[in-house]
Amino acid sequence: MDKNFDVIVIGGGPAGYVCAIRSAQLGFKTACIESRGTLGGTCLNVGCIPSKSLLNLSENYHKVQNEFNNLGIESSNVKLNLSKMMSNKNKSVLTLTKGVEYLFKKNKITYLKGKGSILSKNSVSVLDESKNKTNYKTKNVVISTGSIPSSLPGIKIDENNIVSSTGALSFNKVPKELIIIGGGYIGLEMGSVWKRLGSKVTVIEFLDHIIPGMDKDISNEFLKILIKQGINFKLNSKVTNVKVVKDKAIIDFTNNKSSKRERIECDKVLVAVGRKSNIGEDIVKLGIKLEKGKIKVNKKFETSIKGIYAVGDCIQLGPMLAHKAEDEGIAVAEIIAGQAGHVNYEVIPAVIYTSPEVAAVGKTEQELQKESIKYKIGKFPFLANSRAKVNNETEGFVKIIADDKTDKVLGVHIIGSHAGTMIAEMALAMEFGASSEDIARTCHAHPTHTEAVKEAALAVDKRPIHF
Ligand code: NAI
Repeated sequence: MDKNFDVIVIGGGPAGYVCAIRSAQLGFKTACIESRGTLGGTCLNVGCIPSKSLLNLSENYHKVQNEFNNLGIESSNVKLNLSKMMSNKNKSVLTLTKGVEYLFKKNKITYLKGKGSILSKNSVSVLDESKNKTNYKTKNVVISTGSIPSSLPGIKIDENNIVSSTGALSFNKVPKELIIIGGGYIGLEMGSVWKRLGSKVTVIEFLDHIIPGMDKDISNEFLKILIKQGINFKLNSKVTNVKVVKDKAIIDFTNNKSSKRERIECDKVLVAVGRKSNIGEDIVKLGIKLEKGKIKVNKKFETSIKGIYAVGDCIQLGPMLAHKAEDEGIAVAEIIAGQAGHVNYEVIPAVIYTSPEVAAVGKTEQELQKESIKYKIGKFPFLANSRAKVNNETEGFVKIIADDKTDKVLGVHIIGSHAGTMIAEMALAMEFGASSEDIARTCHAHPTHTEAVKEAALAVDKRPIHF
């Protein structure tokens, strides 16, 4: 095999595999190194994709058990077959990872299986499963080594009693009691799954609110809805110790305000307190500059060493989200090709796939207040949306924030069914620099949930029709 490449990408997750495909499209001789054994990274293997499978199935299970009887679809003897549910999830993951492998073949990308290490800006080694090392030459290196779960001091994730999201995606029986440390994306998605399947779920969150970074209106509404669904919350609480005694986990935590100490015993603890960049020894050895533990890149995604680029969760730019990583993968390939690859960090949608879903793009009210930007708000509840009403999906609202003077849309925040799909229209509107008036004057199909977006835009100018 020829060992000379134009682009070698290290890591086959959403940043890396997409970068490899775009590089190949641009005519570069491309290789992608991946050590996991399957392509797709955390997202496809142990993240977005398997969690969405379990979220979808557990929601259906919950609806059949708790909602359908009231709506004229009577069922009895509904049973959970967890192992079948897990097999279905694993099958979806396998199909999608194989799909990426097929795309590599289609684009004539060399898939190098093993652990990649950068030796210099033009050479990379790959250590395969049989411990054979092979060196390759390349004109450009792209690091896309992703991220790994963070833990708390003194807490060791064993993926048995104390698990990360990886363990929580593969329990072989429904935990009687599940404690989740961290009320962020992972904690609330996995908490929803196991609550619906029958666990008693308690979320311990350090701050006085959940999903930090999201608009406070949304965060408050979301908390109310989750409490109504039966998830318990211990906010303002700092976990001080977790230990395992005879297959039970014991968690000690202290209330930040009252200093009151509490202890809970449970079967499983999910530690979901964020993720950290996956920085290999080679990166440290080469002296590539870091910023707060992440690889520091410039606007062209170039690290402190010319010719070595980095994209995705491992860099300091933007949130740790698969779609941000994919866009960076495309941008860096185009930059290497001399084109104007670009990612607009002002317009990166974020979605939490709970029920209802939560989705946001652009600025929150709190961010605008900090930046002293004057704004106006339009809000519309799904309770007043006809399609949501007939579907019994009346929880939540759409909130559009527009510049006080220019009316330019600065942020959109949605909590409600299909929020994750609806946010795409808002991202597009913001990319085109839309005003709330532009959205309000765009004809939206009736009856759809998206009419709530149009109504929220009308509400910015205090003229909603249905509320
Ligand atoms: P996160 O940053 O979303 O949430 C972590 C939570 O833990 C925060 O609320 C934080 O205040 C809390 N916390 C931190 N230290 C704590 C402590 N000592 N005690 C109690 N609470 C503590 O991180 P998460 O949920 O682990 O997700 C990791 C990454 O994966 C995020 O960057 C997220 O964007 C991404 N992700 C995205 C998903 C999506 O797009 N739907 C789904 C899952 C993950």
